[in-house]
Amino acid sequence: MEKMWSGRFAQDASSLLEHFNASILFDQKLYREDIEGSVAHAQMLAHQGILTHEELVLIESGMAQVLSEIESGSFEWKIGDEDLHMAIEKRLTNIIGDAGKKLHTARSRNDQVALDFRRYVLRKNGEIVKGIQSLMGAIVDIARLHTTTLLPGMTHLQHAQPINFGFHLLAYAAMFKRDIERFESSYIRNNVSPIGCAALAGTPHNINREMTAKTLGFDSVSINCLDTVSDRDFALEILFNISTLMMHISRLSEELVLWSSYEFRFVELSDEYSTGSSIMPQKKNPDVPELLRGKTGRVYGNLMGLLTVMKGLPLAYNKDTQEDKEGVFDSVETAEISLEILREALKTMTVKPQNMESACKLGHLSATDLADYLVAHCGVPFREAHFITGKAVARAEALKIDLSEIAYEELHAIDSRIKEDVLRYLSIEHSMNARTSQGGTAEVRTLEQILYFDHYLKDVK
Ligand code: ARG
Repeated sequence: MEKMWSGRFAQDASSLLEHFNASILFDQKLYREDIEGSVAHAQMLAHQGILTHEELVLIESGMAQVLSEIESGSFEWKIGDEDLHMAIEKRLTNIIGDAGKKLHTARSRNDQVALDFRRYVLRKNGEIVKGIQSLMGAIVDIARLHTTTLLPGMTHLQHAQPINFGFHLLAYAAMFKRDIERFESSYIRNNVSPIGCAALAGTPHNINREMTAKTLGFDSVSINCLDTVSDRDFALEILFNISTLMMHISRLSEELVLWSSYEFRFVELSDEYSTGSSIMPQKKNPDVPELLRGKTGRVYGNLMGLLTVMKGLPLAYNKDTQEDKEGVFDSVETAEISLEILREALKTMTVKPQNMESACKLGHLSATDLADYLVAHCGVPFREAHFITGKAVARAEALKIDLSEIAYEELHAIDSRIKEDVLRYLSIEHSMNARTSQGGTAEVRTLEQILYFDHYLKDVK
């Protein structure tokens, strides 16, 4: 098959090279960006008098036909065409004749691929943000139902202080909000047009880069052509943003795995989003959160992969850069399905408030409250209060009860400054609601946080 670049070659490329060199099997995903970019480029060329109006009309109608062939599945993607840019241009020329051969004036595949790939990444920034917003909405809705559901808050995976389940979930809402902000700021930074940079140095043709940028929805035109055709930091940003998002998804998934085990039984995943065992008939496995945790690994791998591809490249375009796409496609698709399935798994899971509350009776969750009581009501310095509380905990352990259930007399015997009103402070519910400082777990503060996220989600809709 004759190549577009075959002028200076005497022999055909080996088929081994064709397979090794081609990106067409994966970059065809960029067909829409490629066609829109070409049409905008042709419109600019016509506006500048580089193409005639008739040539432009032919290019526009030919591209409309190529687009419909691709979308109907009749377009033939051939390895020999190497990449989508050449396949589309070749088909255009088949359809419209010589006008098609003028399209590549003042352009190179280097700025063309930089354009297509950047526009794909920008579009996916927006779509992923929508996915995160929808997941956040589901999380806030569950949180709303559980602002008084007591849950052992943990550090080191050990019972620490009582919180409410809504407050716990809202921690993830806060993480996902920052994730959204990262995608949004990447979008703003990278919404800069590469087209018109040509191979590396710009072009002698009298082009109008502002015009193509405007047609394609960019905020501005890139400042330096050598940088523009060469760097892939916009792709690294989405890979990093997805990695951080998946890290958050993975932590929540880990909690779902723990919470749905017999040791916790805080939640039960719905049958729809659980799987069975091929040998143990009694089992219900949390495959969804486990896979979400697992898929985080490949997403990190894609980030490391592209960082490594880029690290030794001299300016400007190098073929190594063709390795930028598959990892990004994979991370984007992983993020999209992960957001959706996590949202559905959360929406359909059953929360078990009673099990959460019984777990609060283990581990003396209100011990800090006894120390705080000694400080606030008995004038005891905190260090000493900590020591006295330690004794009270040891006594409760000896009695095989939780500190929240200890009799007043037991405490009074340990320190006579302790009065009967102490019992109120030791209740788990009181302990949770006592944490009224800003951002704290008290029901009033949790409700405030729900309002904050409701407001945020309403604004973005
Ligand atoms: N398929 C190439 C890529 O994905 C397009 C750019 C090729 N440019 C070149 N000068 N070989 O990077």
